[in-house]
Amino acid sequence: MLSEVENEVLTHVGSGTPMGGLLRNYWYPIAPSAELFEHPTKEITLLGEDLVLFRDRQGRLGLIDRFCPHRRVNMAYGIPENDGLRCPYHGWKFDPTGACIEQPFEETVRPDGKFKEKCGIAGYPVEENAVRSH
Ligand code: FES
Repeated sequence: MLSEVENEVLTHVGSGTPMGGLLRNYWYPIAPSAELFEHPTKEITLLGEDLVLFRDRQGRLGLIDRFCPHRRVNMAYGIPENDGLRCPYHGWKFDPTGACIEQPFEETVRPDGKFKEKCGIAGYPVEENAVRSH
């Protein structure tokens, strides 16, 4: 029989947990990619993380933290652009890896433009695979 501590180690899969770290080494089917042609964002909850899947205007897929780190707006309402997903509230933009690549107005207050380097969010690689028929 497992101890309470062993049970917690084996059953918690969130980001930063031992099992979460292990399970994040594998691929998971998360959505029919065709859905993103109808609507470019989709909320995904995977391994205890709330994420948003999106297709940018180049056709690249991204899977990033669902909530903007600025004021926690749901990025499922984000605006897809050529190089990422823009938050609809104050306009911070994130690329498919979760890197913050633009912060309108912040750059006028902090002209060195380095603040955005501290504002990245979780991002996971995504592959789009065609369905094979036999
Ligand atoms: S809440 Fe996203 S940029 Fe402010």
